[in-house]
Amino acid sequence: MTILITGGDGYIGWPTSLRIASQADDRVISVDNFARREWVESTGSTSALPVSSIDERLTAAREVHGLRNLSFVEGDLTERSFVDELLSVHEPDTVVHAAAQPSAPYSQINGERANYTQHNNMQATRNLLWGLDEHGLTDTHFIETTTTGVYGAPEFPIPEGGATMENQGDQDEVPFPAMAGSWYHLTKSHDAANMRLAHKQFGIPISDVRTAITYGTETEETVSDPRLSTRFDFDYYFGVVAHRFCAQAIAGYPMTVYGRGEQRKPFVALEDAVEGLAQLAVSDVDDRPADHTVYNQVTRAISIVEIAETIADVANEFDLGVEVEHFENPREEDETHKMEIEYDRYDDLIDGQSMTFEEGMRSVLATLVEYEDTITSHEDRFLPGVLTED
Ligand SMILES: NC(=O)c1ccc[n+]([C@@H]2O[C@H](COP(=O)([O-])OP(=O)(O)OC[C@H]3O[C@@H](n4cnc5c(N)ncnc54)[C@H](O)[C@@H]3O)[C@@H](O)[C@H]2O)c1
Repeated sequence: MTILITGGDGYIGWPTSLRIASQADDRVISVDNFARREWVESTGSTSALPVSSIDERLTAAREVHGLRNLSFVEGDLTERSFVDELLSVHEPDTVVHAAAQPSAPYSQINGERANYTQHNNMQATRNLLWGLDEHGLTDTHFIETTTTGVYGAPEFPIPEGGATMENQGDQDEVPFPAMAGSWYHLTKSHDAANMRLAHKQFGIPISDVRTAITYGTETEETVSDPRLSTRFDFDYYFGVVAHRFCAQAIAGYPMTVYGRGEQRKPFVALEDAVEGLAQLAVSDVDDRPADHTVYNQVTRAISIVEIAETIADVANEFDLGVEVEHFENPREEDETHKMEIEYDRYDDLIDGQSMTFEEGMRSVLATLVEYEDTITSHEDRFLPGVLTED
């Protein structure tokens, strides 16, 4: 059996590759074009934890965890010929598709970045789905990390999947409308629709894993050796809110909450995100969904203010005096939206979350204190700035 992981050099894709290779005897092939390394560099920032080259990572995976079944292929998934060759040579039984340009602010910089993001993300997914069909691989389980952002911020509890629509007294179950609020998030709404179509037309079994904002510096496998670390970005464009706040706490910078910050966002720990993807990827052929299944990869919805206050409290344990400051919101969003989201199916998959948000923040700060110099030398990157290539 062969499992293909796209985006295998990324924040989630690298630890997922390690987890799957550890749990399965299957051949695990990780694919990436190293674009994330370039994007972050172009913002003038860097990962707080040093990121080893892919060769060093693979060597460490073999030496530390005995993973001889993990290999790597460099390539761009937007190129059809590359995807065709990848699929015809390796004939994967499972694809975990975690390659994307995943930053909303980056996709919003200008029309060129919006174009790039939408082309990159949607073309890669289409190439993989059509490639599976054209190479006779329609039994291959296709798992994609989409995003909880596809739901937008509706004024009702978010279901784990579709929606019920009512018109003139009749009702039906429909795919959730594309209410995403950024050019990046909308790529995942389109991916979700394309996966549904690929399931319908080609019969490909699909797990649409709607990933929440993911936090954490480590997983069980990455913590064993610094060469195995996954990246941790903290700049305005690529640092997710909890990561940016933790880095700001380390730099002694006040934590910036945009506007009132009462809006709740869904979160999941990296450890739990990786475990969910691994559970789906290594499931026996008989146990895997033959159908189209949506998972809300979430373990809790938390308000931005609560995030900042939790981090400020935990930061005290590390003698970091941190303040929470409110700034005018550069984004158009409801600052009081109380998101409620269902995630029972995902919770069953991972058998409950492995750590609370507070425990997660404690673990992140404990790691980041070692990299204070890297963070402080890039602290101007907490706020939007000009990209080096502009
Ligand atoms: N991290 C989060 O909080 C979060 C939240 C919701 C959804 N997601 C989704 O999870 C997935 C992984 O996110 P991440 O945080 O690890 O991001 P990441 O940028 O660290 O990982 C994505 C990887 O895909 C690679 N990639 C991008 N385009 C490619 C292409 N055309 N060909 C080959 N490789 C390509 C990048 O180089 C990168 O290594 C993405 O689909 C993202 O949208 C992430």
